[in-house]
Amino acid sequence: MKSNPATTILVGNIGQCLTLDSAQNGNPLGLISNSAVAIAGEKILWVGPEKSLPKEYREARTIDAEGALVTPGLIDCHTHLLFGGSRADEFFARLQGETYESIAKKGGGIQKTVAATEKATDRELLDTARKRLDRFLSYGVTTVEVKSGYGLSTESELRILRLLRKLEHPANVIPTFLGAHIVPNAYSKKRGEYVRLVCEEMLPKVNEGKLSNICDVFCEEGAFTVDESRAILSAAKELGMKVKIHADQLSCTGAAELAAEMNALSADHLEHASDAGIRAMAKGGVVGVLLPGAVFSLGKRTYPPARKLLDAGVSVAISTDCNPGTSNTENLPLMMSLAAVELRMTLGEIWLAVTRNAARALGLSDRGSIRKGLRADFVIWDAVDAMEVPYRYGAARPRTTITGGNKCQAPADNCT
Ligand code: NIG
Ligand code: FE
Repeated sequence: MKSNPATTILVGNIGQCLTLDSAQNGNPLGLISNSAVAIAGEKILWVGPEKSLPKEYREARTIDAEGALVTPGLIDCHTHLLFGGSRADEFFARLQGETYESIAKKGGGIQKTVAATEKATDRELLDTARKRLDRFLSYGVTTVEVKSGYGLSTESELRILRLLRKLEHPANVIPTFLGAHIVPNAYSKKRGEYVRLVCEEMLPKVNEGKLSNICDVFCEEGAFTVDESRAILSAAKELGMKVKIHADQLSCTGAAELAAEMNALSADHLEHASDAGIRAMAKGGVVGVLLPGAVFSLGKRTYPPARKLLDAGVSVAISTDCNPGTSNTENLPLMMSLAAVELRMTLGEIWLAVTRNAARALGLSDRGSIRKGLRADFVIWDAVDAMEVPYRYGAARPRTTITGGNKCQAPADNCT
């Protein structure tokens, strides 16, 4: 196949390329030393050892990786990054003995962010969300899932999803509808009516407007019961949407089992998942999305049972959960460090968790590895070895990030 050198870019002189492509070398991490990647437009054309570089790519414009580590762009598959206001006071109140649940009962928590988001102008919400995406990109994250859920009325939920569409950022945004985040106060005595509103009004409008093709539910005491969650997710599936669940975060409700029953893309959190739930997830191929930053930031010590999940055969993804209440960070590489220290995950499990498995948790098959035909999203790290990223906790940074074939220099605000 002939390619036009003017449109082809060659990333050469890569010390180690972690392709995460199981087809490479029969090794799931697909490590290729002294390698190169050729890209054209948004797509990857070729990856392999530099010495086998096909002739037609030799004249291409080159980006010199200077012997560094190259990996797929990181994928954060669980965030709530579009919101107004701050909940810094709650972070400190918890250190004085309050809990997430007691703060919510007093009118704080999600309800407080809903009010602040309502009050904020579109411009303010877009500006703060863009800054968060800039920070994500500066950590090598090239795809970011973002949930609604700080609206809780048809109008406000649709507003959030429409704003997400307007973000236009080099980090690719994948919107998820989370109208069932909590039952708003006005409906506390008529919960069924809110569930009906989500099923019969919000979901059809989200679907009609093509604002999201994924529906999430917070299945938890104080949020939605298993039966309510099942009703909402079933309505979403009837519209052809994919589903996922905030499952067993603060208590064991049986949400992991529900995720398997619903053929969900993922069950997220899982700190209190039962053994039966874990087995059901493994059998149903449900990805377990673990959010160690939320455990850390809530001041808790109960991390999700990552080893149990992995040993049972569940594919595990790791995410920041970026949100104002339980995890105010965009630092996905830091979550990789927590995955090593607190979740006892191996290096290979950790890299899979922020690339291929995170793509699966979003139902995306066009990214997550460095392979011919996939999106040209990858990171040239300021590191030479895959171990250095989790090892350099809180401080691992890319030297260059390429998203959809475009080069962005760190810091992210220099993106072209
Ligand atoms: O993933 N658990 C529910 N949702 C978020 C928290 C949202 C908030 O407190 O604002 C989470 O932890
Ligand atoms: Fe969440």
